[in-house]
Amino acid sequence: MTLPVDTARLSAEIEELARISDHPYPSVTRILFTPTDMAGREWLHRRLRDAGLTVRVDAVGNTFARLEGTDPSLPAVATGSHTDAIPEAGRFDGVVGVLGGLEALRALQAAGIRPRRSIELIAFTSEEPTRFGLGCIGSRVMSGVLDEAGLARLRDADGGTFEQARLGAGMTGAAMDARLAPGAYHAFLELHIEQGPELERQGLDIGVVTAIAAPATLRVELTGGGGHAGALLMPARHDPLVAAAAVIQEVDRAARGTGSTDTVGTVGLIRVEPGAVNSVPRRVVMEIDMRDTDLARRDALVDHVRAFARAQAERLGVGHSGEILNRDPPSVSGPAVVEAVEAACAEAGASNVRMVSRAYHDTVFMAQLCPTGMVFVPSRAGVSHRPDEFTSEEQIARGVAVLAGALTRLAQA
Ligand code: GLV
Ligand code: MN
Ligand code: MN
Repeated sequence: MTLPVDTARLSAEIEELARISDHPYPSVTRILFTPTDMAGREWLHRRLRDAGLTVRVDAVGNTFARLEGTDPSLPAVATGSHTDAIPEAGRFDGVVGVLGGLEALRALQAAGIRPRRSIELIAFTSEEPTRFGLGCIGSRVMSGVLDEAGLARLRDADGGTFEQARLGAGMTGAAMDARLAPGAYHAFLELHIEQGPELERQGLDIGVVTAIAAPATLRVELTGGGGHAGALLMPARHDPLVAAAAVIQEVDRAARGTGSTDTVGTVGLIRVEPGAVNSVPRRVVMEIDMRDTDLARRDALVDHVRAFARAQAERLGVGHSGEILNRDPPSVSGPAVVEAVEAACAEAGASNVRMVSRAYHDTVFMAQLCPTGMVFVPSRAGVSHRPDEFTSEEQIARGVAVLAGALTRLAQA
């Protein structure tokens, strides 16, 4: 059966949400619990309610919209993604899984399909690490991976806590109320853009994700005395930015040197204080993202970079601390979820291939609660986390049809 996906409506909604942003279209910036993020959430809640779904927000801001099944006592099947966006991102990352998930539920309603299990759409809090340096905060709390102590350690750039941010945004109850027990869901399936070039290169409609690469983040803080850029002579300097520069070079060199193109290392964030052209830097904070499909190789890279940063600090006489913000394992999709996606592809006439996700997703943490899987749709030129991120409305609609088909199968089981 072909499900009635309303491609034009979905496309119009993606465009509309893209305009709730701190940067002008097509750049999208929606950072956790900022007025813009809250406006986006409100906009989404209206759409969910208009679709006749019951909306609930948990203590950390994860949003749930439920389509009731004929047997609501059974664990539900869940789908979803995120609507937060890193600075100057595109309009599809995360959004396709949330609004596409909504469209899948509307397609089921329009087709008069009443699943046995309820289906819940989840919009996760802070999949992106922009504000607190840690991604997937909502799904980490939900799955029990992030406990109260871990949550309490998080700080934003202004030194604010997650607790302050969450209460300020109007969330109620204790943060740990958001935790769910393993088995809370029957299965979780996330629709997302690929963010890489494979599907487009192979001319295929759908990527059936079998595993997600293991991400880790190391925060390194380097400190020196600072001083006047003219008066402080070179022999007397202990410049933390010089140490940071060596670390950046080494991350790139070491990630290239593992012998596998599955290893990636990035320094995408660096803060320099006091940040004046005529001042020797006093403090540098850098966050280093390292990933691999092979956990042992990823961990070896993390350990190497950590030790290298310490050695550079000692060489230059600057203070050093290294903190692992996250060191997550890879996640493997549930065979039944993979099979449901492949069966849905066959039904929708969508060409497909099994693949590994190199980006991380809330699915990594949902895998602690239930069997999971992901449906990828192509990304033009593999571009993501950029304003020119693009997936056509036909490609998205095909992904939604596959998602809806797979959810229906999983919800009948
Ligand atoms: C998600 O945004 C990631 O960085 O993989
Ligand atoms: Mn992203
Ligand atoms: Mn994403």
